[in-house]
Amino acid sequence: MAALSTALKWPRLPSVAAAVFQRALASTTSAAVAQSLPEHVKIVEVGPRDGLQNEKVIVPADVKIQLINLLSEAGLAVVEATSFVSPKWVPQMADQQQVMQGIQRYPNVSYPVLTPNLKGFETALKAGAREVAIFGAASEMFSERNINCSIDESLQRFEEVMKAAKDANVPVRGYVSCVLGCPYEGNVSPIKVAEVAKKLYSMGCYEISLGDTIGVGTPGSMHKMLAAVIKEVPVSALAVHCHDTYGQALVNIFAALQMGICTVDSSVAGLGGCPYAAGASGNVATEDVVYMLNGLGIRTGVDLQKLMEAGAFICKALKRKTNSKVAQASCKL
Ligand code: HMG
Ligand code: MG
Repeated sequence: MAALSTALKWPRLPSVAAAVFQRALASTTSAAVAQSLPEHVKIVEVGPRDGLQNEKVIVPADVKIQLINLLSEAGLAVVEATSFVSPKWVPQMADQQQVMQGIQRYPNVSYPVLTPNLKGFETALKAGAREVAIFGAASEMFSERNINCSIDESLQRFEEVMKAAKDANVPVRGYVSCVLGCPYEGNVSPIKVAEVAKKLYSMGCYEISLGDTIGVGTPGSMHKMLAAVIKEVPVSALAVHCHDTYGQALVNIFAALQMGICTVDSSVAGLGGCPYAAGASGNVATEDVVYMLNGLGIRTGVDLQKLMEAGAFICKALKRKTNSKVAQASCKL
């Protein structure tokens, strides 16, 4: 059973507001709710990749490197650093080698990178990547638009990456995009999501991240989709990756936690979007996820104050207001 937090780590919050929040928290974290939640959640920080890939103005590599270092410093155990995709398709990630070679590698932090095919994998390995992620979709049209091939073709490419990764002893994470809806096809069947997730898991991916790429899901659709996937892939090997377009990401994550999910992807300052999912907003902000999990007494190992400093750093560099509600509130107080 999850331990309940009584001592909230709430930076710069007036005591009256803190007391009000603690009372609210006590009433929401009933034993019944707490019993069904994990004690520890692994956060996979995707800001430097998912968060920045959609930025139109090229962010200098040294800014990306500093962001990754600050995120490591904040206690995140996984920081997805960049992607080894075609610079013609995603120009923002063209400095992937420089980024991989410039970051400070913290002990116990992994820095996975996206590799859509063998070419990407081989380049990533040369640049010093020690973990990679392959990324497929549960929607044919999204697969075509995003990686220029059908789902079946993508799985063949991934088999090649898996074989090379096995030979090099490199762990591989698998993504399934459009698990709760597709920008081109609309509804996506939970059965299809389960089928693709099972294939990636059977290939040897140690973890499958289920992406609500356009942030259209609700706790209802999240529940149906996870119920289907859990029949095919152990829940301990699943992660959720929620974009926040419709403001449902946190509640969807909460629904996923109640179903046994203990790995959550998020992006510092809520940055991001997918270049092949027009109109989709960034991932749920890591600050907001950490704040919610702290409130539930769920351990993450992340220092919220340092995380907010990383968020402030990248927002300043991008001349952008943060999308994190927690960071916004803490600035006002
Ligand atoms: P393609 O054009 O079909 O590839 O692209 P190709 O094999 O026909 O090769 C064409 C050219 O690309 C060749 O160069 C290749 O060498 C080069 P040329 O001879 O013309 O000079 N090429 C590469 N260059 C660099 N790195 C590579 C690579 N592969 C081929 N790895 C490809 C296929 C997959 C490469 C392309 O479609 C691509 O790069 N797509 C990127 C898509 C992407 O990054 N999308 C965003 C990430 S996914 C996402 O955000 C969703 C996620 O967050 C989860 C969620 O939210 O749901 C993960
Ligand atoms: Mg994404």
